[in-house]
Amino acid sequence: MRRSNVIVAEIHQLLREMVRPGITTMDLERVAEEETLKRGAVPAFKGYSGYPYCLCTSVNEEVVHGMPSEKKVLQEGDILSVDFGVLLDGYFGDAAITHPVGSISEEAAKLVKVTEESLGKAIEACKVGNRLYDISHAVQSHVEKEGFSVVRDFVGHGIGQELHEAPQVPNFGDPGMGPRLKAGMVLAIEPMINIGGHGVRVLEDGWTAITTDGSLSAHFEHSIAITDNGPYVLSRL
Ligand code: CO
Repeated sequence: MRRSNVIVAEIHQLLREMVRPGITTMDLERVAEEETLKRGAVPAFKGYSGYPYCLCTSVNEEVVHGMPSEKKVLQEGDILSVDFGVLLDGYFGDAAITHPVGSISEEAAKLVKVTEESLGKAIEACKVGNRLYDISHAVQSHVEKEGFSVVRDFVGHGIGQELHEAPQVPNFGDPGMGPRLKAGMVLAIEPMINIGGHGVRVLEDGWTAITTDGSLSAHFEHSIAITDNGPYVLSRL
């Protein structure tokens, strides 16, 4: 799982260097596919439940599962969430990052920062003996303290020989609840955070989820192994 996640992280790094006003989300898709195959891995999302691309590219009020498009030209001030996973030798890796496009508003920058911080708090809660919803609570309490809201309709997940395994990992919940964390578990934790309300709806394309109030949304994800020596962030270089 470390090896599949290193590939995910390397490709995220390449994509980060490409993000700027004027490129399209399809430019990112092409590079992601080529670099995945070059490394002997298989894109994890393409073909999953009929999803047609390697990447999910969600811009501004798009929360998750935005689809790469030749028509989607990034503009200065946008925020772009890139979600990407691969399969290598039978094991999955999965991670997501929200990038600023050029210079962005103070409010957008705060959203991106708080969302990334909330994933950091979640990772700190990935300790043997803690309970699953300690992770959820760590995200929710940080985000709500900063005045943002946690998306309810999409959650993180276990990951391993399948992209999505039990348990579901909500980004909201009560501390001290849920199953105990054990060494050897691997979780993909992925807070999706909105500036406005937590409501989302899926567009007619059947995939793209947007905020119901049109507010900006950010998304960060890591695949994390629970070990006796603490959390091991598999998808970080
Ligand atoms: Co995921």
